[in-house]
Amino acid sequence: MPNAFPAVPPTRIDFSPEDREWIAERIKEVLESGRLTLGSFGEEFERELAASLSAKHAITVNSGTASLEIMLRAMDVTGKDVLVPANTFFATAAAVIAAGGRPVLMDTDVATLSTSLAEIERRMTPKTVGIMIVHIAGFITAEMPAIAAYAKSKNIWLMEDAAHAQGSTLNGAHAGSFGLAGSFSFYPTKVMTSAEGGVIVTGDDRMATEAKLYRDQGKASFLQNTHVRMGYNWRLSEPHAVIGLRHLRNLPAMIKARQRIAALYDAALGGGANGVRPLAAPKGCVSNYYKYVVMLPEGVDRKKAKAWLRDERGVNCSGEVYEVPLHKNEVLRHLDPGDLKQSEIACGRQMCLPIFASMTDAQAQQVIDGVKAAKAAGVF
Ligand SMILES: Cc1ncc(COP(=O)(O)O)c(C=O)c1O
Repeated sequence: MPNAFPAVPPTRIDFSPEDREWIAERIKEVLESGRLTLGSFGEEFERELAASLSAKHAITVNSGTASLEIMLRAMDVTGKDVLVPANTFFATAAAVIAAGGRPVLMDTDVATLSTSLAEIERRMTPKTVGIMIVHIAGFITAEMPAIAAYAKSKNIWLMEDAAHAQGSTLNGAHAGSFGLAGSFSFYPTKVMTSAEGGVIVTGDDRMATEAKLYRDQGKASFLQNTHVRMGYNWRLSEPHAVIGLRHLRNLPAMIKARQRIAALYDAALGGGANGVRPLAAPKGCVSNYYKYVVMLPEGVDRKKAKAWLRDERGVNCSGEVYEVPLHKNEVLRHLDPGDLKQSEIACGRQMCLPIFASMTDAQAQQVIDGVKAAKAAGVF
């Protein structure tokens, strides 16, 4: 029996009619110009990305996976260890492997879904050359400055896979600005998209030069066919840059809208009285609310809870940030050190409530009422 509620989608990618017209006009311009890749829209996109993230350099590429691999190649991780959270996307570790390094998995702090400094210290090996921190769901751990200071004291680099955290800040500092370089993704699920795309932000002139070499087949320059690095085709096309540029200009308003929804959820569901416990933003962190994560009580069947919310209340929760940690994936099982229990708990108990920029207060209320009804019905 269908329920009486309109369906609330888990997420939405918003391009208004004005956005579509603006994009179409400029793509027409690109087609007329014949400069389809590494052109003026790409440069404009890079300038505006750098300004929006308070970064000296922004180098766009064709995915967030590419930006990670380029950053790692630029630091030559061949035969070296890189500390990577177990609770992250496949690409964070896969990029280390692709660049010739070994990911050393770190456990998760269940309160923040990030990595603690204590855990970093515990996982250091004689071959560790760097730390990759991931800002899950858009939350930046309050320990970031301490982690940066620790990396400096050990003479190793710190990088950020900030794919979730474009526009998030900690004590006013942007995600991507805490270490040597930061990577962002413009995949369509993210807070803004260019359809496919990514960017490396850095304050380091050498990293910026290297990134430009690597993204274009390691060529000495755009018009020169001599190869000086093991690069690849990681270029961002002009039509992608046009789409990204438009969404980037909408980003502050889109993040504000997400924050408004998150505040409604916090006010209604905070404190955990309704069965679920919303993840609290770390002190000093202003999140972009890429995801709104709640933790389910121990033992709750997540699949059943999500099906109940959908079938009884029209509330469609998205997939989890990560359903399982990296070492539970067949191809990464060999990275399991055997003691990543907190990651397993964090991945196993999380659920993501619908959140997107064009979400209405009425839709948010429907989600809140749905969660309360689920609690009353004993679903969690
Ligand atoms: C944490 C994280 N790292 C890396 C990526 C890879 O980005 P892309 O899909 O643009 O390659 C993603 C998302 O897709 C991600 O969520």
